[in-house]
Amino acid sequence: MNLTRTIPLVAGLLMTAGTTLAEPEVPVNLPEFKPGQYVHQAPTVEDLMADESIHPELKKVILKGRDMFMNTQQFRGKYVFNDLNCKSCHMGEGRMNWSGPIWPAATTLPDFRGKNQHVNSLEERIAGCFSFSMNGKPPEYGSDDMLALVAYHRWLAKGAPVYEKNIGGRGFSHLGKDKPELDYQRGKAVYEANCAICHGEDGQGKTVDGQVVFPPLWGDHSYNWGAGMTRIFTAASFIKNNMPLGKPGSLTDEEAWQVANYINSQERPQDPRYTGDVKETREKYLNFHKYTNYGTVVNGKLLGDHDNTGDKPFLKPEVLRPRTFD
Ligand code: HEC
Ligand code: HEC
Repeated sequence: MNLTRTIPLVAGLLMTAGTTLAEPEVPVNLPEFKPGQYVHQAPTVEDLMADESIHPELKKVILKGRDMFMNTQQFRGKYVFNDLNCKSCHMGEGRMNWSGPIWPAATTLPDFRGKNQHVNSLEERIAGCFSFSMNGKPPEYGSDDMLALVAYHRWLAKGAPVYEKNIGGRGFSHLGKDKPELDYQRGKAVYEANCAICHGEDGQGKTVDGQVVFPPLWGDHSYNWGAGMTRIFTAASFIKNNMPLGKPGSLTDEEAWQVANYINSQERPQDPRYTGDVKETREKYLNFHKYTNYGTVVNGKLLGDHDNTGDKPFLKPEVLRPRTFD
């Protein structure tokens, strides 16, 4: 199946360059849905405005949540300490299949999560992306900001069945965990040919007038060592179906794996679960870190062997306290 997908960001970038163009429909090679899978059409802002069953006060809260998701940088230094917005990884407003659509969290939680070994709420799932992907600190549970984000996630799920887990297009994809033999130099070559033009030779992205146009892929302003994107298979799947921007599906699986390994062989802020010893932290969270290069030696350097937390002036957000229910 040769699917098409609109790439709003390319249009957005072209607009900032002074031209207004209709959103281009680009042919992309996305994975097919499996028989029996639930496939969801998340509503759009136009649907929201037209929906008279939703109270105007609720509309305001949903729109606030959407604004927080799209422009999370407005909370730089409060909730976010790197250069990312939620939509940097959950592309297309968090609505798009194979781009980490966020609505499934609203229909499948509370549930047990392997990453932290207990039953998580939707708020805690959102908090996780703040703590790791945004190298930050989540809004307080139950606060107006958290309520707005929860409302945005839940509204996107409108009409979807609750606790249905066989969801087509969830997460980033189909590459699975069987990785080919990874080679740093091969990944570097793929990077230089396909990614450096936007994300920079040095992986630091590009900022124009204080606005992040292309987000960094490593270093102090990127996601930290505890983020899902540090798992090579997750990054490979994201990259395969979403990058290079405007040409998703154009890399081979092999190239996606190699470049994912390359960007995740570079330094980034410390994992907030750090115990003070990188090897010990890797062992303690091996169910996660067996898929990352954290605590392994690459090019003669032990990755993650530092206490650099980037711009964030603390290590552990409180929300990472382990919880048990007995
Ligand atoms: C650096 C990339 C990145 C950024 C930035 C990011 N996330 Fe995520 N997010 C991920 C990854 C990776 C996953 C796990 C996807 C998977 O399971 O394959 C995820 C999963 C989620 C899920 C669960 C989706 C599901 O299928 O259950 C939610 C909800 C979510 N993120 C919300 C957010 C919010 C809110 C923000 C901003 C505060 C954010 N994310 C920022 C990478 C990111
Ligand atoms: C045409 C410019 C462009 C090219 C080329 C490109 N990217 Fe991106 N990339 C972006 C933009 C813009 C975003 C953020 C998307 C958004 O905010 O909607 C992004 C987001 C990302 C992210 C998630 C956010 C982050 O900073 O961690 C990763 C990972 C990524 N790109 C990797 C790659 C890789 C690997 C390649 C090469 C195969 C690549 N990109 C090529 C523009 C580009």
